[in-house]
Amino acid sequence: MDKIRVVGGAELNGTIPISGAKNAALPLMIASLLTEETLTLDNVPRLADVALLKRILSNHGVDQSVDGKRLGQNGLAGETLHLTAGNIVDTTAPYELVSKMRASFWVIGPLLARMREAKVSLPGGCAIGTRPVDFFIQALRDLGADIDIDAGYVVARAPKGLIGNRVVFPKVTVGATHVTLMAAALARGETVIENAAREPEIVDLAACLVKMGARISGAGTSTIHVDGVERLSGARHAVVADRIEAGTYAMAVAMTGGDVLLEGATEDILGTPIRVLTDVGAEITPTNAGIRIRRNGAGISAVDVTTEPFPGFPTDLQAQLMALVSKARGTSHIRETIFENRFMHVQELARLGADIHLDGQVATITGVDKLKGAQVMATDLRASVSLVIAGLAAEGETFINRVYHLDRGFERIEDKLGACGATIERIAG
Ligand code: EPZ
Repeated sequence: MDKIRVVGGAELNGTIPISGAKNAALPLMIASLLTEETLTLDNVPRLADVALLKRILSNHGVDQSVDGKRLGQNGLAGETLHLTAGNIVDTTAPYELVSKMRASFWVIGPLLARMREAKVSLPGGCAIGTRPVDFFIQALRDLGADIDIDAGYVVARAPKGLIGNRVVFPKVTVGATHVTLMAAALARGETVIENAAREPEIVDLAACLVKMGARISGAGTSTIHVDGVERLSGARHAVVADRIEAGTYAMAVAMTGGDVLLEGATEDILGTPIRVLTDVGAEITPTNAGIRIRRNGAGISAVDVTTEPFPGFPTDLQAQLMALVSKARGTSHIRETIFENRFMHVQELARLGADIHLDGQVATITGVDKLKGAQVMATDLRASVSLVIAGLAAEGETFINRVYHLDRGFERIEDKLGACGATIERIAG
């Protein structure tokens, strides 16, 4: 199994192109199931999760093609993907595929809306918590679907089509907001989604659906109105920049020092992490080309942060922030409120010398002067990348095992960091 070797100590200087967001690309690809015409997506990141979703979609009969690279095109530019669900041949999403990636469960929305039936495996366990699907089931029932759970599958039927309704989420949920948006787009009548997720990836999906002919207003606020239409058409849409990738590299620079332009990142999608990075002592300047982050030799300040749905501080940057403040002056507190078990990086950061005390959902991090390289591994992708960041700021060599987690969410991380002066390489295993 591949591993990544990092030698710490170098500042990061240069430009890092930010890829299209994994968490926007996945629902956008799934939206192709809503129409028999072609949905073309630009700026799709080259990631293992995207490759897996391509397999899942082809199982449903979605034809796919990828544009070749044009002469002079930057090797890091995203893919252009053409998806055509002219003829959906199978409305079942099997366990073998869904269990590998939770987001594939989301096909239930468009399949049910267009084909009036869907049988989708329950996603099963997950490294960061139990992650049930009750909000999805309730929302689809609200839209008139009959739903049974049978032998590990969610079997959904709406023989006469879905009917618009009021859907109120008990807790903010990104996935169930995506699914309800897609399902309501083809439902009869009006749907109002209350307590909807406000993440930039929701706004991106809604923008694409509108290009496909959907009638949606309020995406980006907690109340979304969807006026159902009879059919949707093809469209062309570019995936929004990955705010988590941008935030991750920003944390790396804040930790190692240096000066990096995060090309393509914008202030509006980053929000709270920019404020936290400023509190930590980094200097952030939005420019036309992206966000510039600098930190001079001054120390890192401790912070108290709670993860929250957007526009709050994202759970997907919690592990990276913990790596950063492990070298702060003073004591930081990080409270995780989205997932109950998202602290796998704590023990591994401790192997590098971090001083972290975990009490329920709160981590207390007492800054240390230096970290020291070691062998580490993690069981989810944000935890893995936090170890890369810590390794960049540690003395000596760090080996990050189980690299496939990184490949799920970070496109060519070693090339991007290496181009900015980091000593980082992939060792084939
Ligand atoms: C999305 O997961 C992201 N995944 C996650 O990114 C991200 O951490 C999460 O949103 C929160 O921002 C993708 O976009 C592909 P939720 P999702 O529904 O949609 C509970 C990464 O590293 N819940 O917003 O699955 C749930 O357990 C990942 O890229 C229910 O109880 O998250 C959690 O506590 C990992 N019942 C909370 O809601 C349900 O039916 C929010 O989860 C659904 C969710």
